[in-house]
Amino acid sequence: MRFPENFLWGTATAAYQVEGAAAEDSRGPSIWDTFSHTAGKIRHGDTGDIACDQYNRLDEDLDLMSELGFEAYRFSVAWPRIQPEGSGPANEKGLDFYRRLVDGLRRRSIEPMLTLYHWDLPQALEDRGGWTSRETSERFAEYAGIVYEALSDEVGFWITLNEPWVASWMGYGLGVHAPGHKGSNKALAATHHLLLGHGLAMERMRSAGDGNQLGVTLNLHPARPSRNTEADKKAARRVDGQANRLYLDPLFRGEYPEDVFLHYRERGVDLSFVQDEDLQKISDPIDFLGVNYYFRNTVRDSTVEVGKSVPFADLGARPVIPHAAEKTAMGWPVEPEGLTEILVRIKDEYADIPMYVTENGRAVNDYIDPEGGVDDEERISYLESHFRAAHDAIERGVDLRGYMVWSFLDNFEWAEGYSKRFGIVYVEYGTQRRVPKASARWYSGVIRQNGLY
Ligand code: FCB
Repeated sequence: MRFPENFLWGTATAAYQVEGAAAEDSRGPSIWDTFSHTAGKIRHGDTGDIACDQYNRLDEDLDLMSELGFEAYRFSVAWPRIQPEGSGPANEKGLDFYRRLVDGLRRRSIEPMLTLYHWDLPQALEDRGGWTSRETSERFAEYAGIVYEALSDEVGFWITLNEPWVASWMGYGLGVHAPGHKGSNKALAATHHLLLGHGLAMERMRSAGDGNQLGVTLNLHPARPSRNTEADKKAARRVDGQANRLYLDPLFRGEYPEDVFLHYRERGVDLSFVQDEDLQKISDPIDFLGVNYYFRNTVRDSTVEVGKSVPFADLGARPVIPHAAEKTAMGWPVEPEGLTEILVRIKDEYADIPMYVTENGRAVNDYIDPEGGVDDEERISYLESHFRAAHDAIERGVDLRGYMVWSFLDNFEWAEGYSKRFGIVYVEYGTQRRVPKASARWYSGVIRQNGLY
């Protein structure tokens, strides 16, 4: 099974999850610093203060990527390194780190894929309303302009946002991620201002007139009913509305899904933050779509109380894990067919544009065995089945151009702290030693052959 020529194989990380060096070189605090330092928010009280210390171990990490034959690296820029207070002139020391990173990748012939926002909003902006405030969209575009000016000659792939659904609903709706607010109204305002920020940032970057590829990354989950009942089918449709169409429709069609807006309007949510022309900006054509895929949403009609931090409770629905499914260490079901389904759906229903899987992978309860290796067979079979699912989508006409495995390293898994390991390289946190797992060696082979045999 061969992949198209020039198919780009790489790995992904995000700044707060791997960099550490939280206060070095004038980095300002982000909402994740505040949140992780708040008692009770993160498993075991973990924080990203040190993480994988990639900030200080850059060359070692780049050498390892190169040794393993990875062709691309998707990383994110920490906004609070560039603008410690969320606005104003660039902190050159912060930019220098990413100059070194990008330069180091280029020298090793590894393609940089840069994400501008992977959830680490400067705390100073949160203090002024964060993503519930329209001002944040404008600040984001300014920040994007600064980073673009510094790195656009060296970086060919630009992703404005990572997973606006998670940033909005986990962060502002359910309160389980930073900044920890609760309320559908806040999550919807955050959604709109993130998307508007994307549109304004696109406009800035586009005006430079170079040939770089500009896009955005969404987490997409096909939604399906848990039982074959009318009530569950309708619940699945509502969940599809919030999880997928609320992002795909404005980006590709310049409109919000009517059924979703109606649902919230009927429940008294004020949606007046959507202003004339916003949707025009949001739907400015992108060059590629980044898709993060982990599992499907299997949905039940439900009366679970809103406020209990259960996803989709405000839709009268809740997700269930199918009993028969194999589950990862996160408890997520293993469902490779959902990846084919979502890629084909985007092509059929939205746009036949280039796509990249910008994240896919699984958590395993990894450990270093007595021989000194990490034998993560479950991860190999997970990745293999998902590569096959991606290949199926290509055979069905999807213009899929690359695949970034989540993650290069074990890292700070948000509310789960360091307890969940997603890396294909093991990190022994006490010593910061890196140990490539069996999956990393296996992945090298896939890349060398550009396929599976
Ligand atoms: C995604 C995030 C990424 C990582 C994976 C497991 O939602 O984008 O940072 O935590 O999940």
